[in-house]
Amino acid sequence: MSNEKEILEALRQIHDPELRRNIVDLGMVRDLQTNNGTVNFTLALTIPECPLRDQLVAEARTAVANLPGVTEVNINLDAMNMAERRAAFGISSQLSPESTQVKQVIAVMSGKGGVGKSLVTGLLAAGLKKAGYRVGILDADVTGPSIPRLFGARGPVQIAPGNRLQPVASRTGVKLMSINFLLEDEGQAVIWRGPMISQVIEQFWNDVNWGQLDYLLVDLPPGTSDAALTVMQSLPLNGIIMVTTPQALAAMVVRKAVKMAQTIHTPILGIVENMAGFVAPDTGQLYDVFGPSHAQEIADAADAPLLVRLPLKPLIAALCDEGAVEAVDEPEVTALVQALGLLASEGVTPQPKEIAAV
Ligand SMILES: Nc1ncnc2c1ncn2[C@@H]1O[C@H](COP(=O)(O)OP(=O)(O)OP(=O)(O)O)[C@@H](O)[C@H]1O
Ligand SMILES: [Mg+2]
Repeated sequence: MSNEKEILEALRQIHDPELRRNIVDLGMVRDLQTNNGTVNFTLALTIPECPLRDQLVAEARTAVANLPGVTEVNINLDAMNMAERRAAFGISSQLSPESTQVKQVIAVMSGKGGVGKSLVTGLLAAGLKKAGYRVGILDADVTGPSIPRLFGARGPVQIAPGNRLQPVASRTGVKLMSINFLLEDEGQAVIWRGPMISQVIEQFWNDVNWGQLDYLLVDLPPGTSDAALTVMQSLPLNGIIMVTTPQALAAMVVRKAVKMAQTIHTPILGIVENMAGFVAPDTGQLYDVFGPSHAQEIADAADAPLLVRLPLKPLIAALCDEGAVEAVDEPEVTALVQALGLLASEGVTPQPKEIAAV
């Protein structure tokens, strides 16, 4: 029967259409074993939910099955880790540890879209910055970025030494990186597929000159989809903040989120309930427009503290529309920063305010 060299040669004829290289040279074929006509090997995909998975598996199977003497082909599926993926995409893995040092990487996640993740990310970053921490935001919502708009920030980004991207500084000095800063036309739609998106996220982590940060907040794409999971797997997260709303189907949201956190071995640091009622701007009265809160139940089920309940406040919406999220001055933001500051205080101490931002 065909030997391993011949099998690899057959597999070399199969190209990843996206990376335009053959699957053997890309390091996708692993653990090749042959035994009396049976061929076993592992196919390591760029990401677990690679859209080309079925096609690549079918092509690899046919290529090997057509070789003389082969009676059975068994293919195990696996996914590349971050370093392997970077190598496959031809991205240098040279990091500059002396120029980038991030103490805590915290992702803001939700069970569904439009619950205020980006707002909470922005408010928290602004609040932490005000409290004296060094803060950055990695906008991981590549197909629907909203961080630049919240901060009224624009590109283009400057290139820092070592060909790294310089984050854009917000008014108060929060370091921001978003796909919007890299697009010629901000309104341009990003319709990349999974592997491209995770490549961007990894570049935002590896190739951005973040400098010294106490907190890097990651604004995730909505939901607990594969896209969000891929993003989370691409980054060295220390913890997750989960944003929920009173309308959320509590049990389902928690189950999904807890499962996701477990999948990536990352603790849920706490729950933020957004849209927790409506505060009338004229009277300051709180109206319970969405009925009773499930936030504490969610927190209990996730075995995480309820950090804060943030009502809908028209002033917040107005400031966000103006790109002035940093001008929001609400007690809930201070409460959130305090709750998180306590939770993540190990090794993180507020720094004196930076004089020159970025
Ligand atoms: N508590 C609040 N008070 C006032 N406005 C709010 C509040 N929460 C959210 N909003 C407004 O609702 C809109 C949606 O919020 P946001 O973009 O943060 O949601 P998201 O969860 O990030 O959405 P997506 O899932 O699309 O990323 C924003 O324009 C924001 O200004
Ligand atoms: Mg968002």
